[in-house]
Amino acid sequence: MQLIDSYQRKINYLRLSITDRCNLRCRYCMPAKGVPAFKHDEVLRYESLLRIAKVAACLGIKKIRVTGGEPLVRKGVINFLRQLNRIPGVSEVTLTTNGILLQDMAEQLKDAGVKRINMSLDSLQNETYRSITRGGDLQQALAGLEQAEQAGLQIKLNMVVMRGINDQEVEDFAALSVERPWSVRFIEYMPVVREETWRSQVISGAEILSRLRDNFDLEELSRSTLCGPAKPYRIRNTMGTIGIITPMSNHFCGSCNRLRITAGGFAKSCLLSESATDLRPFLRQGDDALRSALLNVATKKSLQHNFMEEVDDCAAFSMARIGG
Ligand code: 5AD
Ligand code: SF4
Repeated sequence: MQLIDSYQRKINYLRLSITDRCNLRCRYCMPAKGVPAFKHDEVLRYESLLRIAKVAACLGIKKIRVTGGEPLVRKGVINFLRQLNRIPGVSEVTLTTNGILLQDMAEQLKDAGVKRINMSLDSLQNETYRSITRGGDLQQALAGLEQAEQAGLQIKLNMVVMRGINDQEVEDFAALSVERPWSVRFIEYMPVVREETWRSQVISGAEILSRLRDNFDLEELSRSTLCGPAKPYRIRNTMGTIGIITPMSNHFCGSCNRLRITAGGFAKSCLLSESATDLRPFLRQGDDALRSALLNVATKKSLQHNFMEEVDDCAAFSMARIGG
C-alpha cells in the first residue's frame, strides 16, 4: 500500500517536527512574545516519532526532513537521526536548522548519517540578522555554517526575502553560490505572523529573478537537477546553484509530495491546511491503525492553496509549531 492522495500525487516525503522550541525568534516565524510552548508531555517521544516514520516508510516515504522549531535544541537528536537513517526504505534523512548549534554538532550529524542540511540564513549583516532573529548572533550562525562545510555536509541556504528588511542583500546571497558549492534559495515571504505591513514586505519571485538577471549571467537549470519546490538556476560557470521558491505568487501544490507531522503529534497534509489528525490515539493502537490514519490524511490532501486570498481567512499560525 502506498500514500497516494485523491489527485494521484505520490507522497514520498515526510517532514517531522521534533520540537516547537527554538533558540531564535525570527520575525516571519513567530510573534515578538513568542508562541506558547508545548508542555513537555505534549511533544511526541522519539519512540513514537520512530514508529510513525517506520509505518510511513512502509507506505512509500523515502525522504525524511527533521524540522522544529530548531531541531538541534532537542536532547538526543543525534541518536534519533541515526535511528531514522536505519529505517529500511528511507534513502535520505535531512535537517532544517538555523545553524546556531552547528559549531558543535556538525560532525556528529555527519556521523549519524546526515548528508545534507538546509540552513535558514536571512542576512549577512550583524545588525540585520540580530533584528530579524530578534537577538541572534550572525557570527555564531556563520561559524556553524563553516563547521557544516568542514564536516562535508551538503548545504542549502534559505533566505526569506522581505522588502525593506533584507532585500538589499539578495545579490550578496546569490554571490555566495559563485565560490561555494551551495544551493542558495530565495523564499517569498509568507505572512504567517500577519504583521499589518505584510503586503508591502512581500517580494515576488519574479522580481527577485529580474534583479538577479540584472546582476548575474543566470542559466536556467532543469527542475530535476534540484529536488523540491525551488525553480533552479546557476550563475554561469560557478560552483553552486540558486533557487527561487514561490509559495505566494505561484503555488507548487501540483507537485507537492509531502506529509507533515507536527511536534504535538498531528499529521497535516498541507502546511496551510486547517485540518490535522491527532495521531496519539492511533499510537496507542497497533501499526495497522496508524497506517490507516496516515493513509486517511493523504487522501485529505487538498489540490492547491492560494495564500494571497486565504491568509486573511484562516487563523494565524507559527512555523515553529508546524515545522515550516
Ligand atoms: N515565510 C517564508 N518562509 C518561512 N519560513 C519560516 N517562516 C516563513 C515565512 N513566514 C522558512 C524559513 C525556514 C524554514 C523552516 O521555513 O526559511 O528556513
Ligand atoms: Fe526558529 Fe526557524 Fe522560526 Fe527562526 S524560522 S524562529 S530559526 S523556527
